[in-house]
Amino acid sequence: MTASPPVPRPPLTAIPADITCLADYERHAAGHLPEASRHHVDSGTGEGLTLHDNRVAFGRIRLAPRALADLRQGSTRTLLLGQLHESPILLAPVAFHRLAHSGGECETARAAAALQVGMAVSTLSSQPLEDIAAASRAASAELHRAPAPLWFQLYFQRDREHSLALVRRAQAAGYQAVVVTVDASVKRSGFPLPQGVEAVNVRGYPSFEQRSGGLGGPILFGTPLIEGAPTWDDIAWLRANCPLPLIVKGVVSPRDALRAIELGADALVVSNHGGRVLDGLPAAIDVLPRVAAAVAGRVPLLLDGGVRTGTDIVKSLALGASAVMIGRPQVHALAVAGLLGVAHALHLLRGELELAMAQLGCASIGEIDAGILWPAHPGNEAGRN
Ligand code: FNR
Repeated sequence: MTASPPVPRPPLTAIPADITCLADYERHAAGHLPEASRHHVDSGTGEGLTLHDNRVAFGRIRLAPRALADLRQGSTRTLLLGQLHESPILLAPVAFHRLAHSGGECETARAAAALQVGMAVSTLSSQPLEDIAAASRAASAELHRAPAPLWFQLYFQRDREHSLALVRRAQAAGYQAVVVTVDASVKRSGFPLPQGVEAVNVRGYPSFEQRSGGLGGPILFGTPLIEGAPTWDDIAWLRANCPLPLIVKGVVSPRDALRAIELGADALVVSNHGGRVLDGLPAAIDVLPRVAAAVAGRVPLLLDGGVRTGTDIVKSLALGASAVMIGRPQVHALAVAGLLGVAHALHLLRGELELAMAQLGCASIGEIDAGILWPAHPGNEAGRN
């Protein structure tokens, strides 16, 4: 007789004492997610080389402390595209939060609003983008806080009118920027969504679903997935038609970074999609210095991929990022304890960031530069005495 899979535990209503960092949420999440969902969230593509590298690359970078700095009036506040963020931490767009919690993206958005953390909502959210924006605003109002930054992540649709409709809906719902993801138009996804979880924003839109032509038939080339895949012309078109700031997500090469800027991108997200699209890409943190050198400050850079601790954040900022985004950990925390879990995870991360800044003698985000890196790191030309 084969043992039936363990039944996932419901979300907790109090945070266990043994959760003190994001890795603890990942460990606990395994007990709160069905195995198929956990695997879908946590896995990378191929052999998982890039997924693994995203983490270990942070571990290779060392920091140079500075004692007894004056930290009075210390703050993690950050200006990004004219918006004030309480810290340089944002939630990356992640599809289908209802895989982790019945409250879905609205639950996550309330937690982000409570901590005044910016959130990028996926085209593939499992609740309507309007409901998520309303949940965020209601939470801010209830707590008498300024509204948290909300961005909408766009996946190009097969018909431009559908892409445009999504942008218009996002603008009408109060989203303040559009993040267009350019690295995942061609990717394999064999994950069957459980009942009750659906990409509601694009309901009824023709999809790019990959259909197998059978043995010997078309695989990718020659299929609608490739024939209809977006190109740089679509970025130019989107720039001309999107009244909101446009952020291009999924940039790894300096060449693509410059192309996106030429076409009018207001910011870029250096990202390999959390190791989910092409195995063998370098770690996001390893490509950041080269992209930053090419971009030379023309637009802000964000970074995601493997960011799990406060020291990962200061390293990212030191190597040229203005902010970081967090992917999988929001799903882990949501599964473990819903709104409370996400808020707690964000609080922990912000606490780690403040501690790292204090140890490095940085009272503000602007003071974090290559000087906080131990000089042996190649990204650090300046060094600090
Ligand atoms: C993603 N990511 C993603 N990106 C995007 O632009 N739109 C999306 O809908 C999704 N969906 C999604 C689902 C799941 C389950 C994961 C894990 C990731 C990628 C995401 O925005 C981000 O780039 C990575 O998750 C960052 O890496 P970490 O923080 O997960 O290591």
